[in-house]
Amino acid sequence: MQIVHLPLDLHQQVARLKATRGRVGFVPTMGALHAGHISLVHRMKQTADAVVASIFVNPTQFNDPADFAKYPITMGSDIRQLALAGCDLLFVPSVETMYPAGTMLEHPYPLGRLEQLLEGAHRPGHFQGVCQVVDQLLDYVQPDCMILGRKDYQQCMVLQKLVGWRNQPIELVFGETCREEDGLAMSSRNRRLSEAGRQQAPIIYQTLRFMANAWLDGLNPDLIMQQARQRLEAGGFQPDYAVVAHPESLEQVDQFDSTVQPVFLIAAHLDGVRLIDNLSLTTYTR
Ligand code: PAF
Repeated sequence: MQIVHLPLDLHQQVARLKATRGRVGFVPTMGALHAGHISLVHRMKQTADAVVASIFVNPTQFNDPADFAKYPITMGSDIRQLALAGCDLLFVPSVETMYPAGTMLEHPYPLGRLEQLLEGAHRPGHFQGVCQVVDQLLDYVQPDCMILGRKDYQQCMVLQKLVGWRNQPIELVFGETCREEDGLAMSSRNRRLSEAGRQQAPIIYQTLRFMANAWLDGLNPDLIMQQARQRLEAGGFQPDYAVVAHPESLEQVDQFDSTVQPVFLIAAHLDGVRLIDNLSLTTYTR
C-alpha cells in the first residue's frame, strides 16, 4: 500500500490505478480504524478495481473542541489494518493541504431540514464541516465510487445530497453497521468508554430493537419514543434523542402506519462519550 500526503502525488497514483486497474473506490475515514471500517474496504474491493482510503481528523466537523482534542489517533495500527485488507493507496493530508485558503466556509451547503433535525440540531455546524471536507476529498481523489457506513444514517443522507450537487458522477455505496457480539455498534468512540460504560453500552441496540418490536406490535410512536428514553435513562444514559423517523425525510413519525418502514435512531451520552446508532425496519427481523 502506497501512502501519500500531497494532492499531486495522490493525483499521479490515482491516475496510475485508473489506467492499470480500472474503477477506483474511495473509503474516507478519520482513522482510529476498527473492523467496521475494514468491512468498508472489503466491500469496496468487491465494487471497484482499486481502493483508496483517506485518514484525516477533520477539525471543521467537530462542534465540540473537547471532542476533537480527545479523538483517538492510532496511525500505526490504521496503516497495518488497511494494508492487510488490501487497500491500494492511502491519502493522509495535513490541515493546510485540506484547507489551503483556511477553514472558513464562504457559502454554506443548502442542507435544509437535514441540518435542523437530530444530529443537525444537536451538533450545529457538524454537517457543514462534513460536506466541506468530503467535497475537498472528492476534488482531490476523483474516485468512481465512495462508500459510507450506515451507522451514520443522517451523514449518508447529507453526503448523498453533496454527491448529487457535484457535476461528477460518483456511485455511492452504503455499508452495513458492524456490531460487537453484544450488539454494540462499532465506533472509534467505544474505546473511550470505561469498563462499566462498555457493559452498559449495548443498551442502545437493545433499545433500538425494542422500538422496532413495539412498532411491529402497532404501538403509538409517541409511546415508543417515551419508553425508549426511559430505558436509556434507566441504563445510565443521557439521551439526546430516541426517535421513530421517516427513512427519507428523517421527520418524526406521529402515527402508526403499516405502510411506513421507519428508521429508529438514538443518540445518547454515557461516561461523557456520545454514542449514536440506528436500525431500519427494512433490514430488521424480530
Ligand atoms: O464518518 C466519518 O468518519 C467522517 O465524518 C468522514 C465521512 C470521514 C468525513 O470526515
